[in-house]
Amino acid sequence: GKGEYDHYMEKEIHSQPTSLANTIEGRVEDGTVSFDSLEPGTFENVDAVQFVACGTSYHAAMYAGQLLRAAGLPTDVIRASEYETAAGPVDEGTLVVAVTQSGETADTLDAVRTAAGHGAQTLAVTNVVGSTAAREADNALYIRAGPEVGVAATKTYSSQAVTLTLLTQRLAADVPEATPAEDREDLLETLQDLPQHVDTVLETSRARVLAREFMNSTSYFFIGNGFGHSVALEGALKFKEITYEHAEGFASGELKHGPLALVTDKSPLFAVYTDGSDDKTKTNAIEAQSRGAPIVAVGPADHPLVDVADAHLSVPDTHPVWAGLLANVQLQLVSYHAATLLERSIDKPRNLAKSVTVE
Ligand code: F6R
Repeated sequence: GKGEYDHYMEKEIHSQPTSLANTIEGRVEDGTVSFDSLEPGTFENVDAVQFVACGTSYHAAMYAGQLLRAAGLPTDVIRASEYETAAGPVDEGTLVVAVTQSGETADTLDAVRTAAGHGAQTLAVTNVVGSTAAREADNALYIRAGPEVGVAATKTYSSQAVTLTLLTQRLAADVPEATPAEDREDLLETLQDLPQHVDTVLETSRARVLAREFMNSTSYFFIGNGFGHSVALEGALKFKEITYEHAEGFASGELKHGPLALVTDKSPLFAVYTDGSDDKTKTNAIEAQSRGAPIVAVGPADHPLVDVADAHLSVPDTHPVWAGLLANVQLQLVSYHAATLLERSIDKPRNLAKSVTVE
């Protein structure tokens, strides 16, 4: 049941310290990532990676894509429904990773089947043991988030992003051409603090106050760069999904290539960043502010944007990869509180189903 919470979504947002601890448990030791289901050497013949996913799972996959490209491994992140036309060459050296919480999304299953038909190695990253994706792929990796009831994916997103980040480090260890991240030690060490940091965000968030303040806006924009870009896309998807308000996410630098025409004093802009050096997000947020948009800085305190922003949703200081996930928790809360204030059907938004088994 929902216990002390009004909605499953609220419960699931608040369960992330626990679900993330489960996701991490036993998978990182002495700076090495290991998964019970994946023998060392599983990926030694991989020379390129394609992630296929839909919706929120696609946003989690973007995270891993950025990390693998940084490791020097050719990597694509492809919307599963576009696989037929968007995928480049696929052969036995291609690892196709299906990122699907339910393991039942038709578009994603279809993409994996197409890839397997070309000889690709396949891996399902999923929450559901025995799901179709888990059964059909060569290997399965579980995100261990526990069952998610709310239609809006929350705790499964954070567990996917963590599992996929660990997977990138595991891949970098197997694949001869890949170079493990220079800051790998820091990345893995700071992961241990993530559940505690999520708890801090949940305890101290001002998201409800902000949601109330910005009610009655015409549009809600979310921008970010790098990891912040995927978080911005996810923030906008969650917001539109449960509030039914118009929300859009962009790469920070894209704002001036069109969307800026929609920016007014009735379009608050959430600027997501994951470290202090993200100038693109700052410059573009300030551009929107000068057209009257209230701007909300979402990220660690040590960023120049915090001083000029109209509001700040703060996240603890940590590695940029985890800072993005903490920023996302803030945005989950913004969406949740906005939707509650608007009296939306939080756990079952109109027109949507938890798992989409049609193409
Ligand atoms: C959004 C949401 C959807 C799913 C998408 C993929 O909150 O839940 O965008 O992420 O339908 O679902 P899975 O991960 O089950 O393949």
